[in-house]
Amino acid sequence: MPDPLPIAVLISGSGSNLQALIDHPDHGRTYRIALVLSEYDDAFGLERAARADLPAAVVRYADHADRTAFTSAVCDAVEAVGASLMVLAGFMRILSPTAIERFPNAIVNVHPALLPAFPGAHAVPQAIDHGVKLTGVTVHFVDEEVDHGPIIAQEPVAVYGDDDVESLHHRIQAVEHRLLPDVVSAIGAGHVTVDGRIVTVARTPERVIG
Ligand code: GRF
Repeated sequence: MPDPLPIAVLISGSGSNLQALIDHPDHGRTYRIALVLSEYDDAFGLERAARADLPAAVVRYADHADRTAFTSAVCDAVEAVGASLMVLAGFMRILSPTAIERFPNAIVNVHPALLPAFPGAHAVPQAIDHGVKLTGVTVHFVDEEVDHGPIIAQEPVAVYGDDDVESLHHRIQAVEHRLLPDVVSAIGAGHVTVDGRIVTVARTPERVIG
């Protein structure tokens, strides 16, 4: 078994997806969290990082002249710890294209809808307002467009008639907490290949995603 892939987990808030990455049985086996990077110093995810004894850093958007300068600072922090994969786990800032140039097909995002439906920051209320009966979770590589890059894995979540944003988001997050670490583990194990928009995840006896 090769060394675990060093990853950086980028957060803005609660960090429940970070927690799922910490708790997953493959943490320390196929991947290891080399850095938790938050854009806010009061993000609850930083407390989760401290409890798990993980290295953490804060890179504030407001401390930088523009998005490009902020993105460079984020990439520098990730590179400084030797992480080769960035995982956007509820990171609410859009990175500039320099991040994709520096980390091609090495930035992963989790989105609370079945892309290309409902991109952007309001996917859960938009799914309810649109009246869809099925939404879900997408884990994808990040490219220059928001919520657009090659899709690695998706899983559906039913929308019930009595759902509100909170109840639906709760069920979506339960799926995120399984799918995101599974994808990161598959990348760490070298089981994910990308050809243009087409991503292939090798199936193993323990893992069937994609
Ligand atoms: C997740 O639902 C994710 O899909 C969205 O932001 C939320 C972050 O939650 N982009 P958490 O900080 O991981 O708890």
